[in-house]
Amino acid sequence: MQHNQSLKNYNTFGINAQATAFVTITSVNQLKNVITTNNNKLPLFILSGGSNMLLTKNIDALVLHIDTKGVEIINEDDHFVWIEAQAGEVWHEFVLQTIDRNLGGLENLSLIPGKVGSSPIQNIGAYGVEIKDTMHSLTALNLETLETETFLNTNCEFGYRESVFKSKLKDKYIITSVTFKLKKAPHELHTTYGAIQQELDFKGITTPTIKDVSNAVIAIRQSKLPDPKEIGNSGSFFKNPVISIDLYEQLIKKNANIPHYPVNNLQVKVPAGWLIEQAGLKGYRKGDAGVHTKQALVLVNYGNATGQELINLAKYVQETVFNKFGIEITPEVNII
Ligand code: EPU
Repeated sequence: MQHNQSLKNYNTFGINAQATAFVTITSVNQLKNVITTNNNKLPLFILSGGSNMLLTKNIDALVLHIDTKGVEIINEDDHFVWIEAQAGEVWHEFVLQTIDRNLGGLENLSLIPGKVGSSPIQNIGAYGVEIKDTMHSLTALNLETLETETFLNTNCEFGYRESVFKSKLKDKYIITSVTFKLKKAPHELHTTYGAIQQELDFKGITTPTIKDVSNAVIAIRQSKLPDPKEIGNSGSFFKNPVISIDLYEQLIKKNANIPHYPVNNLQVKVPAGWLIEQAGLKGYRKGDAGVHTKQALVLVNYGNATGQELINLAKYVQETVFNKFGIEITPEVNII
């Protein structure tokens, strides 16, 4: 166990916050031992990939850095394979392994930062696919009983960037492994969302494989999203807001080209990135905190921004968007 450990290299925003105590976890048994030995002396803080958090203060807690590894096929039939990954597996490396095994379902989720264990918490999603579409079940350590429990997909209460682990079970469990039900060939590809089809056409690919779709997603993401190794960021900082059809109809009077996705008969989702760009803030920068130049939904740390400076920037973006459009945008990242 380390004391007063800097977390700068453990969060993709690159914020230099300190942890009072820090331990790297490589097995579930070690996890249980560490929790028992701590005996509630320090609050627990679960650190996975650190890719969806903004640290605004030092963490006076025992930080558990989850680094358990292992990927295993646990079942298969003629059409599907059930594959389990331990929580500390790097998400993108796991996705690439499934593609190498020619298992379909996760290819659109290529290159999302973070680790397997945190992927269900906010039901990660990209290019028309969310993990709720293929996640079969997960195991999680109940922090009160220290027993491992299984949650089936239907028990996770998944929604857009939401799950039960963000709401009523927040801080009550540590996810230890996730099992996906992936499809053997022939695959069902999702290429209609965003620029995937365009990217495939550009490469002259007419009958794409899951690897081709994965490569297309990687190329699109690399062209828009900053690499956290180069510029600190947490992907989309805000959620795309859901607004009423009434408000949407008022908005198109002034902005005929406003992009939107249907939600139901009464609501549509509009891209926060578009709203921020139209509010004139794409590329806006104050000190080392900025709005990304290529994708306005992403806030970036150009070097030494503090969590507080990024929060101030986020508030400014929220206010500016609200003043222009009357729409509230809310953070998608966890602010700590
Ligand atoms: N747009 C702009 N200006 C911008 C950014 C976007 O006008 O600066 C417009 C685009 O032209 C497009 C629309 O907004 O018409 C949507 O943009 P894009 O397809 O890039 O997706 P997004 O809504 O900005 C969401 C997810 C991303 C995910 C992509 C692709 C959320 C909060 N974000 O972004 O997820 O990769 O769709 O599926 O839902 C993440 O969660 O960290 C993340 C990166």
